[in-house]
Amino acid sequence: MTREKLRIGMFGYGCVGQGLHDVLNSSKGFKADIVRICVKNREKKRRIPMSNFTFEKDDILNDPSINLVVELIDDADAAFDIVTTAMKKGKNVVTANKVMVANHFKELVDMQGKYNVSLLYEASAGASIPIIRNLEEYYDNELLYSLRGILNGTTNYVLTLMHNQGTDYAAALNEAREKGFAESDPALDVEGWDAKFKLCIITGHAYGLFLEPKEVFHYGINTISKFDIQYAKEKGFKIKLVPYVGKTNENTITSFVLPRFISSDKYLYNVDNEYNGIITEAAFADKQFFSGKGAGGHATGSAVLSDISANSYGYKYEYKKYQQGTVSNYTRDYKLEIYLRYKNEKDRNLFGFEEVSEYFSGRLYKYAIGIVNLQRLYALRKQLPGMDVFIVNTGRKGIN
Ligand code: HSE
Repeated sequence: MTREKLRIGMFGYGCVGQGLHDVLNSSKGFKADIVRICVKNREKKRRIPMSNFTFEKDDILNDPSINLVVELIDDADAAFDIVTTAMKKGKNVVTANKVMVANHFKELVDMQGKYNVSLLYEASAGASIPIIRNLEEYYDNELLYSLRGILNGTTNYVLTLMHNQGTDYAAALNEAREKGFAESDPALDVEGWDAKFKLCIITGHAYGLFLEPKEVFHYGINTISKFDIQYAKEKGFKIKLVPYVGKTNENTITSFVLPRFISSDKYLYNVDNEYNGIITEAAFADKQFFSGKGAGGHATGSAVLSDISANSYGYKYEYKKYQQGTVSNYTRDYKLEIYLRYKNEKDRNLFGFEEVSEYFSGRLYKYAIGIVNLQRLYALRKQLPGMDVFIVNTGRKGIN
C-alpha cells in the first residue's frame, strides 16, 4: 500500500498535543509534516517557536494543502465544530476527544460516509491500548460476550494511592491532576462520566450500537470513604472503577459504569496507577486481557500517532458490527449484586434490594450486600450524587 503524504493541521497544544509532538519527533520510521497548530490562548508561553502557531481555525480549515486535521482540544463543542467543518471540506480527522465522539457518535459515523472521509479516534478510549482497532479488525467476526475493564487513569490513580498508601481522596486527586491525568474538570473523571463516554465508544465497535451516553448508568468514586477501602482490604479486594458491556441474550446488551471489588486472582487487581486494563470474553478467542497506560501526554500521543500513520495508508473504520446488525436491543433490566455503604435506612430502602446476604450496622456507618436491578439504579441516578452512600459492584452475581 502506498502512503499518502500527510500535511497536518493540529488543534490544541496541551498535554496530548505536546505528547504527540514529542512522539512524532522521536519516531524514526514515520514522518508527518505538522503545517500549523491552532491554539486559543495568545498569552501562554510555548516551548516551540510562535511561527508554528495560529489563533485562527480557518487558517487550517481553509488551507487546501492540509489533508489531515488532528483535533486535541478540551472543549467538546468547539471540537465538534472543527471536526465536522473539516470533514465537510473533505479532510480526514484524527481526534482524542471522547466527550465529542460519544455525544455525536452516530452523526459522526454517518458523516464519514457522506463526505467520504475518515475519522479515527483510538486515543479516545484506553489511551495507549489499541482497543478500537482490535475490536474492528480482530473481533469483527467474534461472538463477543462481554468487555469490562479500567478505562479511567485518574480514578485508578486515586484508588491506588488510597489503597496502597492510605492517602486521602482529595490529596490523591490533586496528585493525579498535577501529573496531567485528570480532565480540566476532574468531576468528569471521578463521577464516572469519562469512563462512560469511553464505554459508549467501545460499545459502538464491539456491538454496533451507538448508545447515547444518557442511556447508560454511571457511578463514580467521589463518595468513597476510608470505610470502603478498609472493608475491601479486609476481604482481600481492591476497588476499581469498572465499566462493563455485555450480552444478555442473542441480540441484546446491557452496560454500566460502577466501582467494583477485584480479588487478587483477577487480571485487573494489578492494574494500578494511571494504567488501564480491558478484558474481553468471546466465544472463540475466549478471555483476553489488554493493559497499558490510560492517561498522560505520551501514552495518548502514541495512539494519536498510530491513527495518523493508519490514516496515511487510507485506513477507515468500517463499523463491521454495525453493518452486521446482530445486536439491536439495549436493556437495563439486569440484576447485579452490590455493596451499599450508607447511613440512613430510608436511603437503603430506595435501592429495592431483592436479597440481602450480608448486613452490618455500626456507629459510623452501615452496609448491606444484596441483589438490585440496574433499572432501579438508573432511576435513582439524579438523586445518587447528593446521597451519603457508596456503591460497589461485588461482581459475584450476573457478571463474573
Ligand atoms: N482523564 C482521562 C483519564 C484522560 O484519567 O483516563 C485519558 O482519557
